[in-house]
Amino acid sequence: MSAKTKSFDLNQFLATRTDAVNAALDKFIPSEKTKPATIHKAMRYSLFAGGKRMRPAVLLAAAEACGGTDKAAMPLACAVECIHTYSLIHDDLPAMDNDDFRRGKPTNHKVFGEGIAVLAGDALLTQAFEIAAQAASWPRYSHRDLVLEIAKASGSLQLVGGQVADLEGENKKLSIAELKFIHERKTSALLCCSVRLGGMSANCTPAQLKALTDFGYNVGLAFQVIDDILDVTQTSEQLGKTAGKDVAVQKATYPSIVGLEKSRKIAADLTAKAFAALNIFKGKAVALEALAEFLLKREK
Ligand code: IPE
Ligand code: IPE
Ligand code: MG
Ligand code: MG
Ligand code: MG
Repeated sequence: MSAKTKSFDLNQFLATRTDAVNAALDKFIPSEKTKPATIHKAMRYSLFAGGKRMRPAVLLAAAEACGGTDKAAMPLACAVECIHTYSLIHDDLPAMDNDDFRRGKPTNHKVFGEGIAVLAGDALLTQAFEIAAQAASWPRYSHRDLVLEIAKASGSLQLVGGQVADLEGENKKLSIAELKFIHERKTSALLCCSVRLGGMSANCTPAQLKALTDFGYNVGLAFQVIDDILDVTQTSEQLGKTAGKDVAVQKATYPSIVGLEKSRKIAADLTAKAFAALNIFKGKAVALEALAEFLLKREK
């Protein structure tokens, strides 16, 4: 960690960016009163339940590292948060992880019923593309590039594909390679996409985009390793979602395959790789560095 990263005020960065993202999301999403009101209530319920907003945060930090602005990056930051929130609503459904708590509240289907929860997820996924279409385009990156980026990270080869492999891996003994296949897709793909979109919103150079891709891929993998560790080590109150869930349904996780200590080492090694990828920014990527460090040490 550089001296600059140490002096960087991440709390302040996260507080201001979270407020800005929430305000922008509030404008993009139809009001609770808009008919049919149930679906807009359900979308807003999960979206504003208190997520950590880490995908928008890395997106905005990547934009800054490339000399861009929050304003240009904001629609894309909102789009990735919509995709992420949809994926959580569906992940919690009885047909998937069957979870009752999320972001410190009852899950969407517990409040609105399964039918509306499925549709709230569908609507957020679609909303993401509507929002992304409202972003500006840049000399190096057209709307086509931006939409492709989000669609590819979310589809059956990436996020959805990872969720499929995750479900099919329940009650099975997976190898580390098989588990990595799942993590790359269900979690790393959208985080990596977020970091890349931040760069694209700043018209980044191909070399910068490559560096951001390496950073996002490794931070994304570390993110899921940590998520699996926290599932074992934290309480439900601390996480705002049910702890101990992975063992209960015999999910393949890093702690279950290699143990807690080795899992921590793997997360730290991935974070070190992510740091190394930022070298080309020569100290301008302080927010990204601080975020990688924060994500490794997070307790929820
Ligand atoms: C949880 O993501 C799901 C995973 C991909 C591990 P987050 O930990 O970012 O959840 P929120 O957005 O803060 O609720
Ligand atoms: C979720 O992984 C990944 C996605 C939602 C795409 P998990 O199932 O481990 O996430 P949590 O623990 O329920 O948040
Ligand atoms: Mg899951
Ligand atoms: Mg889950
Ligand atoms: Mg988990």
